[in-house]
Amino acid sequence: MTMPAAEILGKLTPVLTKRWLSPDAWRIGTYEKLDGYAALRKAIKAHPDDLIQLIKDSGLRGRGGAGFPTGLKWGFIPQGDGKPHYLVVNADEGEPGTCKDLPLMTHDPHSLVEGVIIASYAIRASRAYIYIRGEAVHAARRLRNAVNEAYAKGYLGRDILGSGFDLDLVVHSGAGAYICGEETALLDSLEGFRGQPRLRPPFPATHGLYASPTVVNNVGTIASVPYIVLGGADWWKSMGTEKSAGPMIYSLSGRIANPGQYECGLGITLRELIELAGGMQPGHNLKFWTPGGSSTPLLTAEHLDVPLDFEGVAAAGSILGTTATQIFSDQDCPVYATYRWLEFYHHESCGKCTPCREGNYWMVRVYRRILSGQGTQADLDTLLDTCDNILGRSFCGLGDGATSPVTSSLKYFKQDYLDYIEGRTAPKLSDKQLVGA
Ligand code: NAI
Ligand code: SF4
Repeated sequence: MTMPAAEILGKLTPVLTKRWLSPDAWRIGTYEKLDGYAALRKAIKAHPDDLIQLIKDSGLRGRGGAGFPTGLKWGFIPQGDGKPHYLVVNADEGEPGTCKDLPLMTHDPHSLVEGVIIASYAIRASRAYIYIRGEAVHAARRLRNAVNEAYAKGYLGRDILGSGFDLDLVVHSGAGAYICGEETALLDSLEGFRGQPRLRPPFPATHGLYASPTVVNNVGTIASVPYIVLGGADWWKSMGTEKSAGPMIYSLSGRIANPGQYECGLGITLRELIELAGGMQPGHNLKFWTPGGSSTPLLTAEHLDVPLDFEGVAAAGSILGTTATQIFSDQDCPVYATYRWLEFYHHESCGKCTPCREGNYWMVRVYRRILSGQGTQADLDTLLDTCDNILGRSFCGLGDGATSPVTSSLKYFKQDYLDYIEGRTAPKLSDKQLVGA
């Protein structure tokens, strides 16, 4: 049943996105007029432990994909240890289909800067970093401008707002490697080394940047903090579901009428999101979709009413991830889409561990064989066997994530594979592409 327009529009809960359409919201003067830095003025008078408790009470969970409780993570930072503490914002958004942090930093960079100052005060860090993707030149420029404006107004630097609290904030551009979004590879890269994952545990909370206690949080997580300080934990929990509290920015792409970012309470369904986005493109019917980027198992038209929160998506056999819903129709091929994702993982694999480095290389070759019409049924077993040897045996999440589109597309769309193998679908790749790079 189609919902009335007003009812579906009521599902939008603009919190982190509320200033995006205000002209010049990225400038400090406009930001201040729109409540900007009011949360910092309030937070800096509170005890740091009370701020950590507030974030715990709000139920805020990490917006980078894993959904780890933010207040709990902040509480892991040992106090009175004599070591420097660091806050590092992971702005290396790179998961295919994900586009929520870059628009936030472009349209409303001060909300992130304000969140950084409050979070640093809470965990007693006097130095913070925002590690942003190298390709995101415009967003980095906006961020650097915001940081300079905040210094000039006394929100950063020495004795912030007369509180005695000092904080320096550095915006660091990476070089564009997907693996540097993995938190420990990011820390290595920030220290000037080649970005490759470190063994966890120990986690960054105790052994992070320069082996010191470090909170690594996603952009959306930190940008949520000022709103929670001003609105309170109960207000935050009034959005979303019991275990997945608050609003979430869903990035919608693919075969829908109006792709873009839609901020709604966690737990909205894909059916509702598609309706908010003006429906599917004319002539297209939903066939498969990712709930949270390509590292999360594909779902199908059967899953239109799954609540898009951490628990709901897990119950449907996938992962909420980055809430990047990439929508494919009956005119798209799940075998080809999976191949393109695998090419990405193969290219981005850092090469540190054998299952991911070799497994992705071989899977790409098997896909090329299938898509050029030279595959066999045994190839499907080889793919599943390779995934078995990557999943749980890789050094970091990249390897595990690469298996998601393979196993899920084989689970739901085995017939599409067989159609290539048995000649019912025309080859998509030529013999020349079979050899490939
Ligand atoms: P994770 O579940 O291993 O860790 C999540 C966070 O909790 C980390 O900061 C970790 O340090 C912390 N943590 C977990 N257990 C801890 C403990 N016992 N003590 C202290 N801290 C602890 O997840 P991970 O590997 O950090 O991230 C995986 C997620 O990243 C995936 O779900 C995926 O969706 C997402 N992802 C996001 C991308 C993006 O562009 N935003 C790109 C690729 C993946
Ligand atoms: Fe590197 Fe892949 Fe191993 Fe991660 S799983 S350490 S990206 S080779």
